[in-house]
Amino acid sequence: MPTVTEILDTMDYGPALESDAIARDWLAHGPFGHFINGQFTAPGALFDSRNPARDEVLAQVTQGTAQDVDAAVSAARAAFPAWSGLSGHARARHLYAIARQIQKRERLFAVLETLDNGKPLREARDIDVPLAVRHFYHHAGWAELGAEEFVGQGPHGVCGQIIPWNFPLLMLAWKIAPALAAGNTVVLKPAEYTPLTALLFAEICIEAGLPAGVVNIVTGDGTTGAALVAHSGVDKIAFTGSTNVGREIRRATAGSGKALTLELGGKSPFIVFADADLDAAVEGVVDAIWFNQGEVCCAGSRILVAEAVAAQFEAKLRARMDSLRVGEPLDKSTDIGAIVHPRQLARIRELVAQGQAAGGVLYQGRAPEGCFFPPALMVQVSPANPCVSEEIFGPVAVLMTFRTPEEAVELANTTRYGLAASIWSENLTLAMDIAARVKAGVVWINATNLFDANAPFGGMRESGFGREGARSGMGAYLRPMRIIAPAPAPGPLAPLPQAAPVSGLDRTHKLYIGGAQKRADAGQSYTVLVDGAVQGHAPLGSRKDIRNAVEAAHKASAWTAISGHQRAQVLYFLGENLAARADSLRAFAPLSEIEASIARAFYYAAWADKFDAHVHDTQSAHITLAMNEAFGVMGLVCGEEAPLLGFLSLVLPAIALGNRVVATPSQSRPLAALELAQVLACSDIPAGVINIVSGPVADLAQTLSGHDDVAALWCAQPALAELVARESAGNLKPVWQVPDPLGQGRSFLQAATQIKTIWVPYGA
Ligand code: NAI
Repeated sequence: MPTVTEILDTMDYGPALESDAIARDWLAHGPFGHFINGQFTAPGALFDSRNPARDEVLAQVTQGTAQDVDAAVSAARAAFPAWSGLSGHARARHLYAIARQIQKRERLFAVLETLDNGKPLREARDIDVPLAVRHFYHHAGWAELGAEEFVGQGPHGVCGQIIPWNFPLLMLAWKIAPALAAGNTVVLKPAEYTPLTALLFAEICIEAGLPAGVVNIVTGDGTTGAALVAHSGVDKIAFTGSTNVGREIRRATAGSGKALTLELGGKSPFIVFADADLDAAVEGVVDAIWFNQGEVCCAGSRILVAEAVAAQFEAKLRARMDSLRVGEPLDKSTDIGAIVHPRQLARIRELVAQGQAAGGVLYQGRAPEGCFFPPALMVQVSPANPCVSEEIFGPVAVLMTFRTPEEAVELANTTRYGLAASIWSENLTLAMDIAARVKAGVVWINATNLFDANAPFGGMRESGFGREGARSGMGAYLRPMRIIAPAPAPGPLAPLPQAAPVSGLDRTHKLYIGGAQKRADAGQSYTVLVDGAVQGHAPLGSRKDIRNAVEAAHKASAWTAISGHQRAQVLYFLGENLAARADSLRAFAPLSEIEASIARAFYYAAWADKFDAHVHDTQSAHITLAMNEAFGVMGLVCGEEAPLLGFLSLVLPAIALGNRVVATPSQSRPLAALELAQVLACSDIPAGVINIVSGPVADLAQTLSGHDDVAALWCAQPALAELVARESAGNLKPVWQVPDPLGQGRSFLQAATQIKTIWVPYGA
């Protein structure tokens, strides 16, 4: 034992071990079956859930089979009518009871989470559990207000929810709370490394008197998850985990009609400008990459520092790394706990070795033997270094430097991900300018890794789509209640031109690309027949034309940068010109449709400067903005019905909010849209904002949905739903199967934008 004098000399921490007796007692409830229809099933084929910090088995849980998944989905389905039929108030009472019940057992939850996952008790106790509780309270509120705030919308039905191992209880709360608030029932599969707090949560459901079947929990590995994804009785899948599995799920659900939200990986930039408070930024790095062992999807794993302060910053960072304590997670003075599983440790080591082999120089703190990894910083890395491009999901950051804000933005966006970004500068003008330019679903200014039930969280690009938390998170668990008859599928292409005379008309229609009328690359046209008569000839667009159109749309980025007011002016002018050209359009569309199209142009002109951002009330001292950001280039596969209105109903909302579009018009009657080219050219719509490619719509849609430069896709052709969803899995672009292709309204505006949540310090 050191003497008091010695302790005062070294100022070293003594151990402050939390007792785990409470969790050990609870573990005696095992071995565990699943939680189905309000009760635990008899244990089946078992696997171990381990404590990575001590390399010991904690409990045995059941590997879920397809039959187990089926039983759980049936229970959820049977419980759905009564649960969704309850008043919002009644559901709110249940969510409130769950929140209260977790609070009563908060210490057990925290200790159990720490044992199962390896995270420091301090974090489980102060972050995971309180945030989970807050989530249930917050969503008790949404249950109460749902009928008033989400008019005309209702639950999907049964939600299949698959969660990862990094925040087991918190991710469960993020999934279950909004689902139940909206009136859905759920089947949740926790990660195989960390199923225990989900099983404890099942007991909470019993204690809180939740009706049987509303929440079902099936444990198991990826095969269990895959069975849940494949089950035909599931109406929506919500997944958080790796990008590769997210991609598999995107493909597996294609064409199934299941709604889908994906929260995937990241490689988030942590940008430090020369005028930043460097000491605060160093603490920021601690929270960005050494919080939760770096096993955080939005971890600030790429530190980008202004060259002028890079040496100073690195020195401070190294000194701080030396003082981080890695070890026993139950010790309350531990900063970094155990890596979740030896397999994950091996993965981290492998990636770090690859990074070093590629020239990276590694600086590490200390860590004990066992399933631990020291805090690590890799410098002298090029953008191609695997530690720069790959998600490591461990306590390893890379450090790169930049000279100008432009370079910082370029480096920040050199990634296929887009989950989060952290910006450090005392100059708010600069910080907000960068916030607007980074591709990230969440941006923290002079802060990092802040979460709140009332702040939307989720990614752009390959970090997934959909938001969790706040109003938009609730929206993901609701769907429009109006049933819309599906639009007709495209018929077969009419044969290529024969010697048939074109009755009365002799117009040459071309594709419209980059503001100019272009011949189809293949140099071919097809005959457009209306009621058996030849209406004209349309260019037979191909893959090459789509690529050219995407390139043109890509270049038209100035459209995204101008104000909503300016876009409104253009749309009003378009409406005016549609009216002026009504006569020439009459040959291709009835007057009623032309008039409806003019009204639609005015309608979206009205919206262009009114689809406002939200400011959310979060717990910390921040203004938390939820900005509606354009995607950039969108692909629009228009429907067959009412070809002029059907075309404009998709194009107008997309461009009103700043997107540039590549649109395929009706296959059977494309001439109305192609005729529009005349109107577009004289309506001040900049070149490349609207591009029109007619032809075999399935082929064109396939190219559009597979294109990496197309950031979002709308499809109004029900017959192509599966194709576009499957093909879009490459860059994981969100796909919206337009439920009402001739409709208008907020759902179009929402689908035309993605939320960027920006946390700005306020009042602290
Ligand atoms: P994972 O994506 O395989 O696991 C997440 C969840 O998906 C688990 O519940 C798992 O059982 C389930 N799952 C696996 N395959 C499935 C399938 N085919 N269908 C349905 N569900 C399936 O993640 P894993 O293997 O545990 O970790 C590997 C890497 O993934 C990590 O090193 C990290 O880079 C990344 N990751 C990212 C997370 C995030 O929040 N963004 C969370 C977990 C992992």
